Amino acid sequence: MSLLPTTSVATIGAYEGAQVTLAGWVYNKTEKGKLIFIQLRDGSGTMQCVVFKPQVSEAVFARAQALTQETALRVTGTVRADARAPGGYELTVEDLDIVGQSVDYPITPKEHGVEFLMEHRHLWVRSAKQHALLRVRAEVIAAAQEWLNAQGFVRFDTPILTATAAEGTTNLFATEYFDLGKAYLAQTGQLYVEAGMMAFGKVYCFGPTFRAEKSKTRRHLTEFWMIEPEVAFATHDDNLALQERFVSAIVQRVLERRAEDLKVLGRDTAALERCVPPFPRISYDEALQIIAAHQGEVEGADPLPWGEDFGAPHEQLIASRFDRPVFVERFPAAIKAFYMQPDPDRPEVALCADLLAPEGYGEIIGGSQRIHDPELLERRIREYGLNLEDYQWYLDLRRYGTVPHSGFGMGIERAVCWITGTRHIREAIPFPRMLYRIYP
Ligand code: 4AD
Ligand code: MG
Repeated sequence: MSLLPTTSVATIGAYEGAQVTLAGWVYNKTEKGKLIFIQLRDGSGTMQCVVFKPQVSEAVFARAQALTQETALRVTGTVRADARAPGGYELTVEDLDIVGQSVDYPITPKEHGVEFLMEHRHLWVRSAKQHALLRVRAEVIAAAQEWLNAQGFVRFDTPILTATAAEGTTNLFATEYFDLGKAYLAQTGQLYVEAGMMAFGKVYCFGPTFRAEKSKTRRHLTEFWMIEPEVAFATHDDNLALQERFVSAIVQRVLERRAEDLKVLGRDTAALERCVPPFPRISYDEALQIIAAHQGEVEGADPLPWGEDFGAPHEQLIASRFDRPVFVERFPAAIKAFYMQPDPDRPEVALCADLLAPEGYGEIIGGSQRIHDPELLERRIREYGLNLEDYQWYLDLRRYGTVPHSGFGMGIERAVCWITGTRHIREAIPFPRMLYRIYP
């Protein structure tokens, strides 16, 4: 015996006139005399199921009457096309069984505060908007990986427990690792994916990454997911060309396949449709000029001296000048990671870029060409106060057949926020981890 449904709401169109069994949960229920309308959600969609008293047994009608929000049930009935029904079909119910009761479901159709919803995140993910958002997230992840796979990239998984820092030492999560001292949760898979790049040419890693961010912002998680491609023989310019193709392929696929979800989210898709290469490129220096010229337009985006990093308001101001994502390239080397290749014509800047999403969403990608010269890399490791011993394996990559190479990391949640038009990053991941949140 199986409890599985014979079909799903998403595929119901193929069953017009046929008898099917659906299994899911009560999203909503209304009664009008002899009629009971059940909004059944089965994960793939929501569909109206109509129970008409004269057409069902008394027991079935009584069970339908007793249904409460989020009760799990199986319904059998006939699929009817109905132009008025959301989705175009409804089910005329013939039989109905309750699988699991739901008593006093805490999230009701009334407005709840975000703190309450975050405390009930394990249930909130059933709600229409959260459901649409997390569907888009899944699509972004699938699109990113499938696009890279199709381009000949090999997925190369990198460790989460690591011995070294890669993106600065101030935001590391540390843990005791048996007799071997401290281990750190990976801030990035990059250093390891560089080893993979030397073995496979084009690789990417995809997994959770960790930053002990002490800041409480709408853009920072302490645990976020990053996809990080790395390519042998690729220069800084090759890297930007890859990024714009990658990002636009993901956005176009979401537009094609998740149009319904974007509608639920009220996303202005015209802004996404413009997201095609080439993306504009400006230098860090030009970005400073833009910030100075538009002083006062965005709160907090005060002019910066050369050598300072941007805050969120600066990114917002810069991005607002463009109608699609914009690359800001060649940042001062001193404010970037130790592994970035200096510009040969201007060694005080690095061959790196941040990709800023439009509409105020800020940085979604950070990337660079990497130092391939072993002496220079060693010098930089020392200058950054890192322990040279820990990086011997990483230096080996430069000792045995070193090549210029480049890569980047896209934060999945940042990308999802932008694509779905979601202001706060806490909704872009099923269970957000932040400075003040580790439950549920
Ligand atoms: O700019 P970041 O720190 O770059 C790296 O980690 C490189 N190793 C990537 C590489 O070249 N392979 O981080 C990359 C991206 C950011 O652009 C942002 O999208 C995301 O990761 N990110 C965060 N997302 C959420 N919360 C945080 N605390 C994040 N920190 C970075
Ligand atoms: Mg960055």
